[in-house]
Amino acid sequence: MNKTPVIAIDGLAATGKGTLARRLATHFDYAYLDTGMLYRAVGIATIRDGGDPADPVAATKAAQGLDPARLEVLAQDPDLRSPVGSDAASKVGAIQAVRDALLKFQRDFAASPPDGKKGAVLDGRDIGTVIVPDAMVKIFVEAMPEIRAHRRFLELQAAGQNVTQAQVLADMQERDTRDALRAAAPTKAADDAIVLDTSHLNADEAFEAALAIVGQKE
Ligand code: DC
Repeated sequence: MNKTPVIAIDGLAATGKGTLARRLATHFDYAYLDTGMLYRAVGIATIRDGGDPADPVAATKAAQGLDPARLEVLAQDPDLRSPVGSDAASKVGAIQAVRDALLKFQRDFAASPPDGKKGAVLDGRDIGTVIVPDAMVKIFVEAMPEIRAHRRFLELQAAGQNVTQAQVLADMQERDTRDALRAAAPTKAADDAIVLDTSHLNADEAFEAALAIVGQKE
């Protein structure tokens, strides 16, 4: 069987999974897909169309109208990374029809990575459980909520957003609860995922730990 090697990186917000996934993709020369950006693009498109991201009809229409092939261009929009974008993404992500509309693009990306790459790294919430259940390696990234909130606060501050750390923690906990408890593809570790706790690891240490996990599985 000639299966594309896929590394699935899942976890809650601000665990460092995006940075980790990007570094793994560069290291192995694999294609990288930040699936959170798909949900962020749908959330912001829903708001711009005058809809409520929690409304299944409005959000599904936006998801079906999204051209994921344009994701790199859409991701340049700073609104996607903003707290409003995070909140909207989490709300549209709880809607099964939205997830269904984004499924094929993600599976195709994993099975046939773009630019002739030999493998793919996907990061999200349900990569190991739903999108690529037979991924070569599955890593579920965790970190303590206060540490995640602090990291996110520093990122938002650096991006010029006017937020407090308490506000970031409260928003994150609301989003965590929604992402983990929703009926549609809740965020959880696949049974065969390796859990990586980055609470006390810097980016280099997390990367080394992930490389060791990949090395065991290859
Ligand atoms: O990874 P992120 O923080 O950019 O994701 C933003 C939101 O999108 C997240 O709170 C829930 C949703 N999401 C999802 O439901 N499934 C994914 N695979 C990725 C993100």
